[in-house]
Amino acid sequence: MQTQKRLGILTSGGDCPGLNAVIRAVVSHATLTYDWQVYGIPYATQGLLERQMIPLHMHSFDLRGIDPLLSMGGTILGTINKGDTLNCIDQILASYQALDLDALIGIGGDGSIAILNQLALQGNWQFIAIPKTIDNDVALTERAIGFDTAVNTITEALNRLTFTAASHDRVMVVEVMGREAGHLALHSGIAGGADVILIPEIPYSIQKVCRHLAELRDRWHRRFAIILVAEGIHPGEEDGINLFNQKIACGKGQYIADCIASCSSYPVDIRVSVLGHIQRGGIPSALDRLMAAALGKAAVDLIAKGQSSQMAAWQNGTVSAVPIEQVCALSPLVVEPDSDLVQTARSLGIYVGELKNTL
Ligand code: F6P
Repeated sequence: MQTQKRLGILTSGGDCPGLNAVIRAVVSHATLTYDWQVYGIPYATQGLLERQMIPLHMHSFDLRGIDPLLSMGGTILGTINKGDTLNCIDQILASYQALDLDALIGIGGDGSIAILNQLALQGNWQFIAIPKTIDNDVALTERAIGFDTAVNTITEALNRLTFTAASHDRVMVVEVMGREAGHLALHSGIAGGADVILIPEIPYSIQKVCRHLAELRDRWHRRFAIILVAEGIHPGEEDGINLFNQKIACGKGQYIADCIASCSSYPVDIRVSVLGHIQRGGIPSALDRLMAAALGKAAVDLIAKGQSSQMAAWQNGTVSAVPIEQVCALSPLVVEPDSDLVQTARSLGIYVGELKNTL
């Protein structure tokens, strides 16, 4: 008689909207199609180390027939985004054996996927990854879970800020997340109608930002502006301006605001908004839920086919499987400075920096 498979699932790295929808999809498909038992591992490798697991059933969280997991932000399993449990690799491998799991699905960003895959190779685990991150910097997938919702959140924030900026003739500097990748800033800046988008991948000139603002004002009679700043930009290197000539103690948004205030040829009334972890909250968008269902199903099917060290990826609007080794070699994936999207931003008159030799 065939024994029932025991499938583990965990979420690792920073949380984002859509993680619970993936958990829901995995539990549904593994239970309904394969009759496996699914166990949630709390707090990623920390939970593995501590040999903790929670049985997950279809409709475990039902509230009068309503499944909250589909629309709930964050992760019911909890997560960690520091790799210090990796000092205990041998204990984690021993714990995994003790938990008696047949396979593991890990939902994480490129760092978590690399760590989990390393453990899987060492421990001979059957392991499948699903990409998630608002930074969208996991290679070989066009989108990671959480990115679409975060772009929508920032876009909505830009809509709100535009009206208050316009009412007061102000320059609004908005700082967004993304680590060393500018995808989040570029996508939401275009969608939200920013006038300037500064990202880590493209050098910028404060003088040119100021000239752009002056042109908006003098030529187009625009008395307000929205400047989107990715947290990963490298202030002070691009055009020799380093206002404080010291390590930036304030955020990058504040730094850019101070530079503009000191370089502008006319007085500017300037305000800074740091969107922070608001970008990671909220209910998942329809696209993130759709991807959660498709990638969750694909991950379960890959396990059923005996595959391992693969990532369920979103390519050309559908699902495919890619080797994790290749994903890790190409991640983190940053914005190509001459990509179509950068050209699109420029075609809309947005200043997005330029090649170093034209600064
Ligand atoms: O990687 C996701 C992300 O939200 C980044 O954009 C951001 O720099 C970082 O995590 C913030 O991490 P924490 O939640 O530890 O402050």
